[in-house]
Amino acid sequence: MASFLAKHNKTHSCGALRKSDEGATVVLTGWIDNRRDHGGCVFVDLRDRAGVTQVVFDPQASADAHERAGRLRSEFCIGVAGKVLSRGDNINPRIATGDIEVVAHELEIFSPSETPPFPIEDRIDTNEAVRLKHRYLDLRRPALQRNLQVRSAATHSARQYLAECDFSEIETPFMVKYTPGGARNFVVPSRLSPGQFYALAESPQIYKQLLMVAGFERYYQIVRCFRDEDLRQDRQPEFTQIDIEMSFVEESGLQELVEGMIARVWNDVLGVDIPRPIRRMGYAEAMEKYGVDKPDLRLDLVLCDVTEACKGSGFRIFDTAIERGGIVKCMRVPEGDRLTRSMLDGLTDFAKPYGVKGVAFARIEEGGGWRAPFAKNFADRARESVNALAGAQPGDVLLFVADKPKTANTCMGAIRLHIGDKLGMIREDEWACLWITDPPLFERGDDGTLASAHHPFTAPREQDEGALESNPDSVRARAYDLVINGVEAGGGSIRIHDRALQERVFSALGIGDEEAEAKFGFLLEAFRYGPPPHGGIAFGLDRLAMLLSGAESLRDVIAFPKTQRGTDLMADAPTSLDERQLRELFIQLAPNLPGASGASGGTAPGS
Ligand code: AMO
Repeated sequence: MASFLAKHNKTHSCGALRKSDEGATVVLTGWIDNRRDHGGCVFVDLRDRAGVTQVVFDPQASADAHERAGRLRSEFCIGVAGKVLSRGDNINPRIATGDIEVVAHELEIFSPSETPPFPIEDRIDTNEAVRLKHRYLDLRRPALQRNLQVRSAATHSARQYLAECDFSEIETPFMVKYTPGGARNFVVPSRLSPGQFYALAESPQIYKQLLMVAGFERYYQIVRCFRDEDLRQDRQPEFTQIDIEMSFVEESGLQELVEGMIARVWNDVLGVDIPRPIRRMGYAEAMEKYGVDKPDLRLDLVLCDVTEACKGSGFRIFDTAIERGGIVKCMRVPEGDRLTRSMLDGLTDFAKPYGVKGVAFARIEEGGGWRAPFAKNFADRARESVNALAGAQPGDVLLFVADKPKTANTCMGAIRLHIGDKLGMIREDEWACLWITDPPLFERGDDGTLASAHHPFTAPREQDEGALESNPDSVRARAYDLVINGVEAGGGSIRIHDRALQERVFSALGIGDEEAEAKFGFLLEAFRYGPPPHGGIAFGLDRLAMLLSGAESLRDVIAFPKTQRGTDLMADAPTSLDERQLRELFIQLAPNLPGASGASGGTAPGS
């Protein structure tokens, strides 16, 4: 007898049928979400990537199908042919197909399923490790199906937009030369060149610049990048960029073009209009008002620097911090009575991980007086100046952190979001897009050495070039980040295409000719042959997908993500190699490592 699939083509998805389909003969395929045997009839919810449809096995319609339906269990994979019937008044408002059901006259069990280790449903409390181990089952959940479809739609939309804008999609190597600095690279041993290693590209940065030298003018690539960094909710060791580079543009031309891409993606995927041009804010203003370089503007709370006003206030904690070169950062919270005493006291614990000892607070009384444990130690003049700077009104609460500038800003920036969230002040239905421009070109490491804040090919602002040697900390970069709802969605810059300027930047970074040659020789060499002015940007596709789908973690928009420790729990990677493989790669493991010859399976140092 011909198989079910030879006889039938699937006619609809499990999310498609409506009242208007009543009477139609249909063929559906999917998995058993739920099965109920009501004596006379067997009911199943049949699930596929598009939704759920109720299927009824009624012995009157088909004794054979009904008999086989008795064997069905959760996650069996089946096909049914049947007729669409109205459910009359007995509709199920929770599903899109709730007006109808399919009465089966044929059932094919494609494959049975063992009892899954956890139920396939969205509101589950199963430990994430168990879900990641059986990721293919976890991915059957409607929420993850939707997230990955949103991601696919976003990818498709961006690709279409860029193709329409005359960009060429060009691939660049993953296995590249190792260059120290920047993100830490994963390395790949070379069998053919004993003792030599490739690095996995952290981004196509150098190659896309070479493509500009090569004359491609508009390049893009939806590309995997690899970074061996500490992982967080919004970071994965392998992630995807929408990587873009253009010749003959400056900031405004490039930004306008990629704003078009973001607007197109948001419109195609969510039907949302992103107003353009997107707002621009200088890095310095962002740090001043929000304490971070990626402010979430769905929240109106603003910070201010009250260091000058607090000088000589008489309050020891502030005075000491200021004497040590610190600042006092203040945030005004209107209608402060919503901040309970326990919330305020809890802020100190919240702030500890940021390296801050305490968070001071004062309630503003009629007339501008402060109700605060330290109020009597605080000079009136200082209090009045702080009130004026913060715009304090009676009923407000002022919060203060006094510490080193970076610490105070980061901590207060985090408190701002924490309070906004606690008090429900973040406008969840808004898309707050923002360009952050003119960040510093350099940053200082803990040991005081200068490093590139972005990468060493980022151009300094023309008006700051003169300070490259005399005051490098003050030099701003022609760089920009696109921030959406407080997430750094993308970042890029205009590049240096002038050799003399590049040398000055290298020299500010303490990179001598020899080192520059060893690290980036091929780019510098290429720049001898008429490099065009160019610039670019890269968006984190995973982050865009996270924003578009409302997911809370990057793991929820990546089909097969890694854990916080960089492991793949499903495939069980990374693993050790056997001795023969190691020999072939000329790798000798430290004797105490598992897998090392003669090892007794001891523990790796630091593990
Ligand atoms: P950058 O390092 O800022 O720039 O990266 C660009 C964007 O990629 C995303 N991103 C990540 N997403 C997930 N996991 C990670 N570990 C991760 N790291 C970065 C962010 C970020 O904004 N070559 C330059 C771009 C350029 O100058 O054109 C670059 O890679 O959304």
